[in-house]
Amino acid sequence: MSVSIKTPEEIRKMRVAGRLTSEVLDYITPYVKAGVTTNELDKLCHDLIVDVQQAIPAPLNYAPGGHTPYPKSICSSINHQVCHGIPGDKALKNGDIVNLDITVIKDGYHGDSSRMFFVGEPSIQARRLCEVTWQAMWRGIRAVRPGACLGDIGHAIQSFVEPLGYGVVREFCGHGIGQRFHEEPQVLHYGRPNTGMKLEAGMTFTIEPMINAGKPDIKQLGDGWTVVTKDHSLSAQYEHTILVTDTGFEVLTVSDGTPPPP
Ligand code: MF3
Ligand code: CO
Ligand code: CO
Repeated sequence: MSVSIKTPEEIRKMRVAGRLTSEVLDYITPYVKAGVTTNELDKLCHDLIVDVQQAIPAPLNYAPGGHTPYPKSICSSINHQVCHGIPGDKALKNGDIVNLDITVIKDGYHGDSSRMFFVGEPSIQARRLCEVTWQAMWRGIRAVRPGACLGDIGHAIQSFVEPLGYGVVREFCGHGIGQRFHEEPQVLHYGRPNTGMKLEAGMTFTIEPMINAGKPDIKQLGDGWTVVTKDHSLSAQYEHTILVTDTGFEVLTVSDGTPPPP
C-alpha cells in the first residue's frame, strides 16, 4: 500500500471529522477535575460522539493485528502512562497530568487529536513537560510543506526536546489517516533532515509526539494496551491531524477551543 492523496471531496470530509474530534476535547475539558474517573470521561465523550455528533468513536473495539480489541471509546493516559491508557474507575487526583486522545469517524473519515489536561495544580516540572511537548508538536507541524521530507518533521521535534533532557518515544509514531485509522506513512518523531518520504499536497497524517521527562524507553502493561515509561518518569503527548496543502499545512483538528498556535 502507498500513501493516498485525498481528493477535494475527501478533504472536506476530513475537515468535518477533524472539527468534531476537536469539539470532543473542548467538551470534555471542564469535566477533567480531581475526583472524576476516566470511565466517567469515557462515557461523556462516547455519548457526545454517538448521540450528538452521530459519529463513531474509532477506538472502541479497534483491534489492529495482534491486539486484543480496545475496550473503550477514548484513550486516557495519566502521568507516567505514555499512550493508550484504558479508562477505568480510578479517580483523577490533584497534580495529575492526563492525555485524552480522541478519534472520531464521520461519514467514513477519521479525525485524531489529543491534548494534555492539568488536574488541579501539577508540579512546575509536569507543566513544563506539557508545554515543551506542545511546542514540539508545533515545530513538527511547521516543518510540513510540499517537497519537505518526513525526516524534517522528526528532526524538528527531536532536535528541540533532546537538548532539554527529554526523551522521544520511538515505538509509536504519527500515521497517515483517512478512511482508515492508521494508514501509511509512519511519521516518526525523530530523524534526520532531508531523509524519508517526500510530502505532497493532499496527504493527511497525524503528528503526535510522546515526550518523556526521563529516558525514552517504554514498556507495555499486561492489559495489552497501556504503555508506560520504563523509568516511571512523566510522559506527555499532543496530537493533531494535518493536511499538506500547496503552500504548507492545514490543521484539520480545530475548533473554537483549540489553543492558538505558538
Ligand atoms: N489515537 C491513537 C493514535 O493517535 C490510537 C489509539 S488506538 C486505541 O494513533 F485502540 F488504543 F484506541
Ligand atoms: Co494518531
Ligand atoms: Co490519537
